[in-house]
Amino acid sequence: MTEPPASSSPSANRSVRVWDLPTRIFHWLLVVLVAFSWWSGEQGYDWMPWHFWSGYAILTLLIYRILWGFFGSGTARFSDFIKGPKAGLQHLGALFRPGKTGDVGHNPLGGWMVALLLVLLLVQAGTGLFAEDANLNAGPLSLLVSENTSKALSDIHEMVVKFLLVAIGLHVLAVLAYLVFKRDNLVAAMFSGKKLLPIAPGSEPKMANPLLALALLVLSALIVFAIVRLG
Ligand code: HEM
Repeated sequence: MTEPPASSSPSANRSVRVWDLPTRIFHWLLVVLVAFSWWSGEQGYDWMPWHFWSGYAILTLLIYRILWGFFGSGTARFSDFIKGPKAGLQHLGALFRPGKTGDVGHNPLGGWMVALLLVLLLVQAGTGLFAEDANLNAGPLSLLVSENTSKALSDIHEMVVKFLLVAIGLHVLAVLAYLVFKRDNLVAAMFSGKKLLPIAPGSEPKMANPLLALALLVLSALIVFAIVRLG
């Protein structure tokens, strides 16, 4: 009797698409834009117009990612990776056992970190719209609120960036820890979209149409345009 090919066995590792193209582009664009926003924010007056544009682009990406979290591919949905404390504790246990954890999308702890990063980025970009400083750099909505409110939101804008840097540091450390201790290259998966997983054919995560992602991105850009025009 011919043995079934190893790839069709449910327990054999197969290359499985886990991240859709829009999520991968979103991630690496976000990395570049966050780095640029941080750098341009430190440069002062001359780079402020670029800091603003980068902030609008980040806000567009964040609104798009929230929509994609409801309408996108299986692994991109919030319902797939925002799990309760029990799942988090179980994952913590799995981290101390030898071998890969075999997560298809985000693991339960990674999912919380993703949510934290998205919330911090939203607060950072949102407060920037209302911020102003002593050099007359003013966000497009700063005149819609009182001077005191604008000052308070500017303080939050300056403070949250520090939390964001810590969260990004932890995020990158976690990814490196997976590489070193679990021999699991999550970074490669964020580029290729694929992981080697022991899952049965037919149970791969569902991928949404990239054209829907494009439509949601355009919608998000229009929302940001409308918000900026309010000022
Ligand atoms: C500005 C810095 C960064 C930010 C704001 C950031 C943010 C995020 C976000 C929001 C996600 C979730 C993606 C999604 O579901 O849409 C994510 C996932 C991920 N990021 Fe980052 N990231 C940053 C830097 C990095 C860097 C430098 C690396 C690589 C060294 C990295 C590796 C990854 C990986 C591998 C995942 C998937 C994790 C998993 O498999 O669950 N990130 N990141």
